[in-house]
Amino acid sequence: MRVLVTGGAGFVGSHLCDALLGEGHSVVCADNLLTGRTQNIAHLRNEPRFEFLQQDVCQPFDCGRVACIFHFASPASPVDYLKHGIETLRVGSLGSMNCLDLAKKYDAKFLLASTSECYGDPLEHPQKESYWGNVNPVGPRSVYDESKRFAEAVTMAYRRYHNVNTRIVRIFNTYGPRLQLNDGRVISNFMRQALTGEDLTVYGDGSQTRSFCYISDEVAGILALSKTDEHEPTNIGNPSEFTILECAQVVLEVTRSSSKIRHEPLPQDDPQQRCPDIGKAKRLLGWEPVIDLRTGLQKSLDYFRSAVHGSAPARRAI
Ligand SMILES: NC(=O)c1ccc[n+]([C@@H]2O[C@H](COP(=O)([O-])OP(=O)(O)OC[C@H]3O[C@@H](n4cnc5c(N)ncnc54)[C@H](O)[C@@H]3O)[C@@H](O)[C@H]2O)c1
Repeated sequence: MRVLVTGGAGFVGSHLCDALLGEGHSVVCADNLLTGRTQNIAHLRNEPRFEFLQQDVCQPFDCGRVACIFHFASPASPVDYLKHGIETLRVGSLGSMNCLDLAKKYDAKFLLASTSECYGDPLEHPQKESYWGNVNPVGPRSVYDESKRFAEAVTMAYRRYHNVNTRIVRIFNTYGPRLQLNDGRVISNFMRQALTGEDLTVYGDGSQTRSFCYISDEVAGILALSKTDEHEPTNIGNPSEFTILECAQVVLEVTRSSSKIRHEPLPQDDPQQRCPDIGKAKRLLGWEPVIDLRTGLQKSLDYFRSAVHGSAPARRAI
């Protein structure tokens, strides 16, 4: 198949391009490089089945006939979406509609990369797909949360009104090689701090929990979902829950760092708990993550070590 990956020069998108090529498909990667990097796809430069299209998907575009569209374009880390708030809202709304128009035109399957942020600061734990969320629609994070909630709504609408063959994956915190070192996410921040001997910054008392999914598990779940006929949202993430303090401890052990832990005030609307219920994915896809946090961090260590050497200035972790 010839498939389109929007946001294919980003962290998740580039791994998805690799996996799709590995399955024998031809891949068109459309990306405007707002938060992505050509380095992430540099190894595909001489791959004849790979095309890179520098394209803002908020502008109508046509990459030719494709059988499947994976719509992953969007700033995703808190640092990026807070910096590019309007662009984030545009790509979730206009960008999603342009990609859905393309899916309609070519009768292509469409898979939306949505997020656990749709659940906001959840009142239900762990989060099942049936939970509608607890989102502040006007807070600073709403540019991302509401953009993705709109993207889900418009995806379902194209299915209902235009018969487009859609899928929605709700991705939970994912990490691994190519995660930007300075994107303000927990793992990248801790790894950078541990490897440079800085204190690890923990917001609040560190008792808030997160779950972390290694990238190969995440991509395997996304691909499995793309092959089913399930149209309602499906959580793909790792349900093993860690407090932020426990996570900092594992990072210190894996990196053998002597960094200390420093506490700072909690940012606004920081969720206290975030953990997927993956019962649906297990039943539907026979999928579940196989890489635990310690193993995933070990697999990522070489990448983070080399990234630290050419590192960009630190950004605030959320
Ligand atoms: N990484 C995670 O833990 C996570 C969690 C939940 C959801 N997601 C979703 O997965 C997708 C990828 O996230 P990521 O972590 O790889 O982020 P990323 O920032 O590394 O990748 C996003 C890519 O989208 C591109 N992009 C942004 N706006 C664009 C536009 N208008 N036109 C074309 N390209 C554009 C960026 O340049 C970048 O390459 C996002 O949709 C994100 O919401 C990721």
